[in-house]
Amino acid sequence: MKTIVLVFHPNINESKVNKKLAKAVEKLDDVLVRYLYDIYSDGQINVTKEQEFLEEADRIVLQFPVYWYSSPSLLKQWQDDVLSYGWAFGSSGNKLHGKELLLVVSPGAPEDNYQNSGAFKYTMNVLLRPFQATSNLIGTKYIKPFITYGASSISTGDLDKQTEKYLNYISRVALDHLDTFE
Ligand SMILES: Cc1cc2nc3c(=O)[nH]c(=O)nc-3n(C[C@H](O)[C@H](O)[C@H](O)COP(=O)(O)O)c2cc1C
Repeated sequence: MKTIVLVFHPNINESKVNKKLAKAVEKLDDVLVRYLYDIYSDGQINVTKEQEFLEEADRIVLQFPVYWYSSPSLLKQWQDDVLSYGWAFGSSGNKLHGKELLLVVSPGAPEDNYQNSGAFKYTMNVLLRPFQATSNLIGTKYIKPFITYGASSISTGDLDKQTEKYLNYISRVALDHLDTFE
């Protein structure tokens, strides 16, 4: 099982949560971690190269801090550029079919905000639906996202525990898929 982790953090050096999680999985066998904001600091994504990396992977991980209930902007650009018609979707666009897609996200706010009765009204799974719809279109299996809530104020001890959980999660051969309305 080959895993590629694409990290979309505008300033990974200043990151607490995403840096810790990404550095931890870098040490695993068969896991390749790429920091897209560092690789494409000019914003010009090399589409052919990115597509080649994706074709080699069995599991594609998109890792990012939650910005405005969504992702940092380079991930949107990556979708626009890399998931092209005739390659990722369309009648002959089948290159990602059957692969797994896992989102690894860190909202700064605590989990109780992300409930229907909470301050933000919507759950993270609901806010991430555009990625789930994308997964449907490109024929990947949408895995239950790995979410680190309260990332803005997480303690070192809790981050250590979360990192262990992440290592276990990403190392599992079988991961559960998230249902359409779950
Ligand atoms: C521009 C911007 C937008 C943000 N929007 C949200 C948001 O919508 N919801 C939220 O819970 N946290 C939000 N945050 C907080 C980040 O998610 C949080 O700082 C990040 O996950 C921490 O991870 P890091 O230590 O890897 O930087 C935002 C932060 C920035 C800088």
